[in-house]
Amino acid sequence: MKSIQIQPSADILAKAAAESVIEIGADSIRSRGNYSIALSGGSTPLALFRILAGKDYDKRLDWGKVDFFWGDERTVPPDHEDSNYFQAAQELLRPRSIDPDRIHRIQGEIEPVQAARSYQEDLQNYFGSSRPRLDLILLGLGSDSHTASLFPGTDLVTNPGINSDLLVGANWVPKLESWRISFTHQLINLARNVLFLVSGEGKAAALRNVLEGDDLPGSYPAQLIRPVDGKLIWLVDEEAASQLTDLKHT
Ligand code: 6PG
Repeated sequence: MKSIQIQPSADILAKAAAESVIEIGADSIRSRGNYSIALSGGSTPLALFRILAGKDYDKRLDWGKVDFFWGDERTVPPDHEDSNYFQAAQELLRPRSIDPDRIHRIQGEIEPVQAARSYQEDLQNYFGSSRPRLDLILLGLGSDSHTASLFPGTDLVTNPGINSDLLVGANWVPKLESWRISFTHQLINLARNVLFLVSGEGKAAALRNVLEGDDLPGSYPAQLIRPVDGKLIWLVDEEAASQLTDLKHT
């Protein structure tokens, strides 16, 4: 099931995202006793992290039962400002005093292929399954229609079938001249809930291409995200939605 919710501003978008994170989390903890969430990187989720770290959310969720993962990571140490782990630690995990045993970061500081292999094993061990099913995966959207670190024209996108058992891969990104470690779309599509958070005029063309463009996942990798048995939620603001023509996505 896919839904798109358009919020009037970035601030209201972040608040709506926080409510979705809490609602999914409360249901996950009620149903299974814990909540596995994969965070996205980049700048868009920062406002969300800060809201979730705020006092208003102290009692909104049993934070001691939340396990944090990441959908992708840069190949930098965990104390580097570009690290997705680092920014989440600063804005959410430390302020919430999350138990380190419940923080499952990708080791961006080691060799990328080894880091991806190790993270895939960690996920399979944590979930006790070869097909880990997270409760929620947060995703952003790049202006080039990438998501996580699934960039247009890169191996994890153009040769997804090379190894359909691959759940976490190392991906060379020529435009960044850098390796990234990323969930594959196969893993993302196993999730119970996938939530895209997209804000700003700069993402309007990408959002139109992904939602309304031709089926070209090689060029618009976010089109690869189609949960097998889960909910796909697009939370976007009016600026990001400004080039959408068909709002019957809901
Ligand atoms: C990353 C993210 C990436 C991000 C998009 C959007 O590691 O950068 O996982 O997929 O979500 O690039 O980034 P912004 O939110 O900064 O626009």
